[in-house]
Amino acid sequence: MKLGTDIEVAADILSKGGVVAIPTETVYGLAANAFDTDAILRVFEIKNRPHFDPLIVHLPNISSILEIAECTSEEYAIITKLTPGPLTFLLKKKDVIHDIVTAGSPLVAIRIPAHPLGHELLSKLPFPLVAPSANPFGYVSPSRASHVQESLGNQVDYILDGGECELGIESTIVSFVGSGENLSLKVHRLGSFTLETLKAQTGLSITMQLSNNSNPQAPGMLDKHYSPGCKLLAYKVGQDPSNETLIWFGKNPPPCRHLFNLSESENLEEAAKNLFELLRKLDRLSIQKAYVKMLPEEGLGRAINDRLGRAMA
Ligand code: TXA
Ligand code: MG
Repeated sequence: MKLGTDIEVAADILSKGGVVAIPTETVYGLAANAFDTDAILRVFEIKNRPHFDPLIVHLPNISSILEIAECTSEEYAIITKLTPGPLTFLLKKKDVIHDIVTAGSPLVAIRIPAHPLGHELLSKLPFPLVAPSANPFGYVSPSRASHVQESLGNQVDYILDGGECELGIESTIVSFVGSGENLSLKVHRLGSFTLETLKAQTGLSITMQLSNNSNPQAPGMLDKHYSPGCKLLAYKVGQDPSNETLIWFGKNPPPCRHLFNLSESENLEEAAKNLFELLRKLDRLSIQKAYVKMLPEEGLGRAINDRLGRAMA
């Protein structure tokens, strides 16, 4: 039995260099011992991920950050305030982190996830875990254990089933710029931690450096990513979708052939949680083409629009 809820089994496999899909509150990760280069290479291989695309290192708690990365005391205080949660920080790596993890970058991405089962597993292990999203490279991220099973089930050693991910969209990636009065945050990937909350909880100014094709530094954030087999097109107001599949947000969708609603009550949290299951469902139903109503550019709407935009590219 490959899928289960047994933390001991997952910990044992990881300790022996195996690869385990683990639940986090954002999406499922494809985890391996962050100090075991052979295990890490297997993660790249299973995902068919290019080696120039770096991995996030997952830790059980704040104090373990200092074992693998450097940060100033003011940065540490901010990380303490904002984690555990759906936020990833780029920090200067220490030598224990192999170049293969960071794709040669001097910065390592670190995250302390909040999922109870994922957290319990991390706390049990004497090493941190690399964990990219547990999907084939370029495809839609998994927000349920069944998503991992359908696309990578034959290749992983175990899937630790933590149920449906509470948030459903990957973590927000940030780095620190400057110090003291001039300390600010730079956002590299929009995600489950909203810009509004970042600003409110830190009081810091925020700049954006969202990666795309023109920035091969973070190719995991390529313009074209999260691509379902189904072709997605933007719905334009006034368009007649009566013979089309429509992905809607809110009330009063126009008449259409198939309707999928991310959230009838215009709830952005609900839409985020539904997004990846919906994109996968289109493929399961062999739907070739769908029109999408974009969401308001606020809160989680930004991250959802970002994923939809990349899925359309
Ligand atoms: O919510 C998440 O972040 C999930 C869960 C499993 O934690 N993980 C995730 O990993 O989304 P992944 O590998 O699918 O996306 C991580 C992104 C990639 O686009 C990668 O390029 C970027 O983070 N990244 C990782 N390390 C980096 C680094 N050192 N510098 C810049 N970007 C980095
Ligand atoms: Mg990913």
